Amino acid sequence: MKILNVVGARPNFMKIAPLMNEYGRREKIHSILVHTGQHYDDKMSDLFFNELEIPKPHVNLEVGSGSHAVQTGEIMQRFEPVLTGYWPDVVVVVGDVNSTIACGLVAVKLGIKLAHVEAGLRSGDRAMPEEINRILTDSISDYLFCTEQSGLNNLLLEGVSEKKIFFVGNVMIDTLLNNKIKAERSDVLNRLQLNGNDFAVLTLHRPSNVDDPNVLGGILDALEVIAKDMPIVFPVHPRTRKMFDSGSLGDRMGKMLNLRPTEPLGYLDFLKLMSHARIVLTDSGGMQEETTILKVPCLTLRENTERPITAEIGSNRIVGTNPARIIEAYRHAMNGGWREPGTPPLWDGHAARRIVDILLDKL
Ligand code: UD1
Repeated sequence: MKILNVVGARPNFMKIAPLMNEYGRREKIHSILVHTGQHYDDKMSDLFFNELEIPKPHVNLEVGSGSHAVQTGEIMQRFEPVLTGYWPDVVVVVGDVNSTIACGLVAVKLGIKLAHVEAGLRSGDRAMPEEINRILTDSISDYLFCTEQSGLNNLLLEGVSEKKIFFVGNVMIDTLLNNKIKAERSDVLNRLQLNGNDFAVLTLHRPSNVDDPNVLGGILDALEVIAKDMPIVFPVHPRTRKMFDSGSLGDRMGKMLNLRPTEPLGYLDFLKLMSHARIVLTDSGGMQEETTILKVPCLTLRENTERPITAEIGSNRIVGTNPARIIEAYRHAMNGGWREPGTPPLWDGHAARRIVDILLDKL
């Protein structure tokens, strides 16, 4: 069986790693990996391939950055001849980035089966580009692999046939569990001169948070208060870096003594950093899940989440971007208000094995 897999952006790499590993164990599978090149910086791409031991992609489409239409269109045009060259039995796409929908659409129009890993997640917020990518990808997929019960419920409500939906667990957590011990060997805490676990970790990259100076300024107001208690380590995403470099907020951030911006970190450094943090503040999707398994309090700086299990039984609280609300939630978590999270069903490190079993069975 020929399986062609697509990755494009940073969060895709953690999701494809355990699948590539699992294909390698199965004699019947010939796997092909295509990188769209949506993310191309060393620190956003190559570093993850090395650390997670993902095989070098067979093809890199090298699309780079652009508006949504340009990026999506370029990926589609460059992917089509690659796909007709390999003509696989199934295309596997992961997550919710532009590469996911672009390659999914090309595959189904050629009559090739499409599998979506991390299907069914919905934030209910159509202003998020990822929400559009999720809805569209799910509506054209043949095999939909869900990480949590809400995913199954959403798909059934949208009229997807039950026969196409599979509850398999979370490949991102497979990667976390596979790398936890290795990550402990990272010297990142020394490099950043952090003592014990008395620090916070922050990431921000959602357009709704970083492209609007008022929203970003409000988040900085809250960070100013938190930084009085502990250092805040802030690996800065390229999109966010651009925003700080182009306006006055960069100066303000530079003056906050306890806010420590760094370059984007690799997977192992970042996993160690998160595991040892007292609290994580983020607008990322994946980190809501990772902090649940690491049992670290997480404040999500968004008004909604497509991963509700992390707030229901996990360590996540959805706090939005209002500074007073962020500070209140931070104090609540630090003063005993945070409860030890449970583990979501099937987040056990075996999601990739289940997915590959199902693909072999169905195809
Ligand atoms: C993309 C995904 C988002 C995911 C995020 C993780 C979409 C719609 N969004 O957002 O869901 O959470 O990746 O990082 O697919 N840039 C670089 N170097 C790179 C990549 C990007 O400098 O290697 C800069 C460019 O200026 C680019 C900007 O970052 O214009 C945004 O990159 P893009 O791929 O459009 O989206 P992300 O914001 O990274």
